[in-house]
Amino acid sequence: MCGIVGYFGSDKARQYLLEGLERLEYRGYDSAGISILDHEKNRFVSVKTVGRVETLKKRTSHLKEAMLGMGHTRWATHGGVSETNAHPHYAYNGRFIVVHNGVIDNYKTLKADHLKGIDVVNDTNTEVIASLLARFAEKMTVEDAIKQTLDLLEGSFALLILDQDHPSVLYGAKNKSPLILATSNGDWYIASDLLALPSNTERFHVMSDHTWFKLENKTLTSYQAHGATIDFDFEAFKDLGPLAERGEHAHFMLKEMLEQPQILETLVAHHQSHGFDEALVTALKEASSLEIIAAGTSWHAGLVGKHLLEKTLMKPVNVHIASEFAYHPPFVSEHPLFIFISQSGETADLIACHPYIKTKEAPLLTITNVPTSSLSRMADYVLDLKAGPEIAVASTKAYTAQITMIALLCAHITHDQALSNDILTIASSMREFLQDHIKIQPLVKELLTNHHAFYMGRGLDYLTGLEAALKLKEISYIQTEGFAAGELKHGTIALIEEDTPIIALIGEASTSALTRNNIHEVEARGAKALVISFKSLSEPTDAIIFEDVNPMLSPLLLVVPTQLIAYYAALMRGLDIDKPRNLAKSVTVE
Ligand code: AGP
Ligand code: GLU
Repeated sequence: MCGIVGYFGSDKARQYLLEGLERLEYRGYDSAGISILDHEKNRFVSVKTVGRVETLKKRTSHLKEAMLGMGHTRWATHGGVSETNAHPHYAYNGRFIVVHNGVIDNYKTLKADHLKGIDVVNDTNTEVIASLLARFAEKMTVEDAIKQTLDLLEGSFALLILDQDHPSVLYGAKNKSPLILATSNGDWYIASDLLALPSNTERFHVMSDHTWFKLENKTLTSYQAHGATIDFDFEAFKDLGPLAERGEHAHFMLKEMLEQPQILETLVAHHQSHGFDEALVTALKEASSLEIIAAGTSWHAGLVGKHLLEKTLMKPVNVHIASEFAYHPPFVSEHPLFIFISQSGETADLIACHPYIKTKEAPLLTITNVPTSSLSRMADYVLDLKAGPEIAVASTKAYTAQITMIALLCAHITHDQALSNDILTIASSMREFLQDHIKIQPLVKELLTNHHAFYMGRGLDYLTGLEAALKLKEISYIQTEGFAAGELKHGTIALIEEDTPIIALIGEASTSALTRNNIHEVEARGAKALVISFKSLSEPTDAIIFEDVNPMLSPLLLVVPTQLIAYYAALMRGLDIDKPRNLAKSVTVE
């Protein structure tokens, strides 16, 4: 979940490390640090700080430019948020310096077995890596010490390593956590995310698991974990440009919500002209069941996708929470097709499901916003969401793009041109609604005065409510529950009291009357209800009423006001909307 950057080039280490870390900050923002070569002393110096890269910038303003360095933004897994626990970390004898993303699962055993009697300076699971290197390098070459260390490490890691005894070398290694090596004008850049690479990057290589490299005076040698040299394949880099910038918008989240209509239109246009891979369509038709695996918002998109896919393919579609699936795989049919849905393509909980999927020898489709990601590279088929980088921790445009992608796939399978047109109608309604997004603010001020809130609905509306509740809680810190309206009297009603805020979603004709009854039931107990509905199902007192759309696609539109409700609730509370506490954009540890 942390971010890593490295530089070996002419003289831009300080500038690039700080710029790169700033761009990676959405991935982890507890603390940050850099190690950079002091050319006069021919030694690396490190600066670490708790808090944001902004603080690190101030605290490193005295440092001179350098040819070589590395940096890190942390999302603590082991050990509190403190300057001591911030990366880079040093070996016991000060020789090796390490930045690390991921978790070394066996770090306690490694300390006990190989580092007896050595004092531990911090609480992380990273320090052990630096100390193992130092211990082994007492008796062997650094390359052999790296091999031996990598051999012992269990868990996930993206690593950069510096050696005070040889300050013209940078090493990197990777297993499960992403690491990318790139070049531009003869300079080397290393980052844990494509977004952190400079705009003039020429070529990049996404490292595979169990590989590592050595950059010595800018010359690259790449290795397999056990030491044989290999060639890294480099591909041309396409600058993400202003898409990764906030522009005139107050927050990335607002910018990303506003991009949604355009993304839907782009996806429709792309798939109308390019179609879908027919081999994928055949695999979907031949499978005995589809098994969707995802986390968080992507899981919510999967739940909606299930309805679309089941109706299209007339076969069971099961949706699994990745972290549950990984260790408690359920019974699956004889010839399943697995589908990963993941905005980032790097979610560790999904990666952990892969070994089981491999044992099934079944096809795997990844639906993602990052086609170069780990989950894409594991898959037989990849569908690229083309939503542009999503920087706000709260996912918005990825959710609507995921549902749109599945809907378009269904439209392709059934040759249903009308479904694609329905998406375009929704895109126009979205655009119209988003143009005047400020109108949500007074509703939020009046409604969300409590520390808790509820979303309720039935069928697809319930699923939209789950996503709406996640959005509201993660950025406003208001405890929010999304529940199936039919479950109200089976428990949740006990929590309803004077002024409890309840948002009801009504997009489904067959159950709207029942949900209306539930609204009366909660209002009778003093709750404040806000209703979002569609015209043919609406009542005059409903707060937001959309023109009718294809009911199968209603979540695409209904979710938009709920995203704005979350946004304005967090704004009203003066919170850090794009970087909510304790969260990180890409959840690369289990
Ligand atoms: C969304 O608002 C959340 N921050 C989170 O639930 C996210 O959707 C989840 O971590 C899954 O991420 P992924 O789509 O990148 O796999
Ligand atoms: N486990 C390391 C730490 O806690 C790295 C954390 C991460 O990758 O998120 O510092």
